Amino acid sequence: PEMIGIIGAMDEEVELLLAGMEGAETVTKAGVKYARGTYRGKPVIVCKSGVGKVNAAVTTQILIDQFGVGKVLFTGVAGAVHPELNIGDIVISSDCVQHDMDVSPLGYARGVIPYQEVSEFKADASLIALAQEACQALGEVNCKVGRILSGDQFIANVDQVSWFYEHMEGACVEMEGSAVAQVCYMNGVPFVVIRSMSDKADGSAHANFAEFTVASSRRSHAILDYMVQRL
Ligand code: ADE
Repeated sequence: PEMIGIIGAMDEEVELLLAGMEGAETVTKAGVKYARGTYRGKPVIVCKSGVGKVNAAVTTQILIDQFGVGKVLFTGVAGAVHPELNIGDIVISSDCVQHDMDVSPLGYARGVIPYQEVSEFKADASLIALAQEACQALGEVNCKVGRILSGDQFIANVDQVSWFYEHMEGACVEMEGSAVAQVCYMNGVPFVVIRSMSDKADGSAHANFAEFTVASSRRSHAILDYMVQRL
């Protein structure tokens, strides 16, 4: 069966997966530990990429090259951008865009990568559908399929949030998903990013992030748990 790669950026985001693995052996590459084994009987590699786009990109390429994963799932927390989203709610990536890619002085819209056909990296339709099914099965989970914006910035400003919503059609903001998405696109590997809201990327974001990251990570993990069993 096909190997499933699962990435989180922080310990809180991967600890439940690691705890649920059987027969895990750990391989370290480029400073990142890859746990290879099974989760609910399915062959998986779970790793903590570290924070930010470079860590996420390197980790994703290693999962593909060294471990031959056929799918990549990302699990973690994000700041809500869509006004209907609250802390604890889930965003399933429709597509992912790098909000800090800014070549506007040369006439490119924010998020557009110059000299490249695609800058909005679309998640796999069947992985999106499975994630939606997971949200329904868990019940009372408010979940949206929407655009995930990523950048190497922790956003804590309402003006930035409205700009992301109005000009970039973002549902939530985080720091890794679009890097994973671009690397998967470059390699023709299907992916989906699942994010549970830890904060609203506003003036209270630092406090909310500290308070809700564990609970929100648990929610995101519950979605992954449902999905892996059915892959
Ligand atoms: N991850 C969780 N909350 C975030 C925020 N406000 N900005 C960027 N990444 C986040």
